[in-house]
Amino acid sequence: MAQKIVAGNWKMNHDLEQSLQLTEELNAKQLDEDVRVIIFPPALFVQPMSALKEGDFELGVQNFSQNTDGAYTGEISISQVESVGGTVGLIGHSERRAYHAESSELLKSKVDHAVANNFDFIFCCGEPLSVRESGGELAFVKKQLQESLFHLTANQIDGGVIAYEPVWAIGTGVTASVEQAEDMHKNIRSWLVEVYGTAVANNISILYGGSCKPSNAKELFSCPNVDGGLIGGASLKATDFSAIIQSY
Ligand code: 13P
Repeated sequence: MAQKIVAGNWKMNHDLEQSLQLTEELNAKQLDEDVRVIIFPPALFVQPMSALKEGDFELGVQNFSQNTDGAYTGEISISQVESVGGTVGLIGHSERRAYHAESSELLKSKVDHAVANNFDFIFCCGEPLSVRESGGELAFVKKQLQESLFHLTANQIDGGVIAYEPVWAIGTGVTASVEQAEDMHKNIRSWLVEVYGTAVANNISILYGGSCKPSNAKELFSCPNVDGGLIGGASLKATDFSAIIQSY
């Protein structure tokens, strides 16, 4: 069974004081035990948040290096993340692909590095508006997965997490309809079945991301192939974020 997950990607928002305040607010919330909750704050704040954290949620990073250590100015390694309490990382968010020129090849090396280090990750995929408008979204997303993720063995991918985030729905207020989300998620599941078989495919969590908020989370999460959400803007307020978690 795929694990239910609700994750919050803060992107480049909040300073230290706001991050600590939100941690305290989340500490005070009764989070659903059946749902794995992960916060991805700016990497700087993983350590102080980890020190303050009491609630049942994990902390992760929005990006990490494909290298172990050494002369890579500005980069952060998996062992450094783990040393401050981070347990999981995002790979291939569309903003990293678009603004930081992260290629499929680079993302594949991050996937391999995470697997080699036993470090949990959420692999992000999703098509831009032009691709959706031309009807090429299934081929586009399938290619992203084939190029950077589907080289893993069944053992390596088992229990993994994929986030489908249509670029046109990110930060725009436009959410994919329930039909659009379920259609893509169903296809991702069927590709996983083709490559890895049903048991492994059913064990992989497929999250939806893109303008997910308290008002639409319930219907998105009720889709058979949606196993949770990767939330941007609505994760910046503890009340909204916990309302989304409670939508399950
Ligand atoms: P929004 O929820 O702000 O649309 O962002 C989604 C996202 O990119 C999460 O990674």
